[in-house]
Amino acid sequence: MGSIIDISNLVKTYGDVRAVDNVSLAVESGEVFGILGPNGAGKTTTLEMIEGLRKPDGGTITIDGIPAWPNPNKIKHLIGVQLQATALMDFLTVREMVRLFASFYGIRMGKSKADELLNEVALVEKAGSMINQLSGGQQQRLSIALALVNDPKVIFLDEPTTGLDPQARRKLWSVVERINAEGKTVVLTTHYMEEAEVLCSRVAIMDNGRVIALDTPEGLINSLESDVKITFTAKHPLDMQKLAKISSVSKLSQVDSSYSFYAGDVQKSIMSLLRLADSQEVKIENLNVAGADLEDVFLHLTGRGLREQ
Ligand SMILES: Nc1ncnc2c1ncn2[C@@H]1O[C@H](COP(=O)(O)OP(=O)(O)OP(=O)(O)O)[C@@H](O)[C@H]1O
Ligand SMILES: [Mg+2]
Repeated sequence: MGSIIDISNLVKTYGDVRAVDNVSLAVESGEVFGILGPNGAGKTTTLEMIEGLRKPDGGTITIDGIPAWPNPNKIKHLIGVQLQATALMDFLTVREMVRLFASFYGIRMGKSKADELLNEVALVEKAGSMINQLSGGQQQRLSIALALVNDPKVIFLDEPTTGLDPQARRKLWSVVERINAEGKTVVLTTHYMEEAEVLCSRVAIMDNGRVIALDTPEGLINSLESDVKITFTAKHPLDMQKLAKISSVSKLSQVDSSYSFYAGDVQKSIMSLLRLADSQEVKIENLNVAGADLEDVFLHLTGRGLREQ
């Protein structure tokens, strides 16, 4: 389909901090592209440079072939940016807010068109409610509707689900899926690996201003050598040396009666484990096999968890 956003050697420095350190990437037209990374990784800075809100120190950005800098007004019609809910005006109704936003783009939006847009973000039943009566999840969905008033090709969502409960988060996910199904490209940032796995066709993992990996979620997970984690408990101790010799086993650990290891070949390693336990007359309990996820990918790449500071 070709790329709609092309970024090359993007740099932003604050004093000694290289907030964005030579980032190059392309976002394909029609995809949901995720930027995943811990606090301070440079996600917002990258997004705001693409949106034309922060001036890069170096590098180039084009959206649909148009350079975002030095004149970001030229890309305004192509993009929709989700604003933080706190920026909304409490004294308007939801529908009035949508129509006001449309007027900022010189669009005279009728009531039915505004409601159509609100329907897209599952908020039409709140059209006549005051904004300060909305829940956190509803406010987030309203701000997505506001980002859509100019019918943009690309929509940017910076941590759209942070602070939402699981139910509100799922609802927002289905809104993002719907917008994308209608042909819009979505670029979002998140701390939540599950969100990236569910929503994103491709994910860039950022850390310390750099993109340290970029692939489909499956591709990133498959890049790990050991792709499943096996845990179990045993009332009597198992011979760790023999356990370690099982083929494709790595990172074996034991805490009291709890054991865990990673394995490349699940079937073989579980069979060998059960055979070993049998020969030592040890009963294995609570056997659990879990696939690797993006958190494991991040851990593998950086040696620390996504939400550790
Ligand atoms: N206006 C600014 N002035 C100085 N330093 C800044 C400014 N904005 C960001 N930084 C620094 O740049 C780095 C990247 O910040 P950024 O906000 O892009 O991270 P982030 O990945 O969006 O983090 P979070 O997940 O917490 O939102 C951080 O070290 C931050 O302290
Ligand atoms: Mg941020």
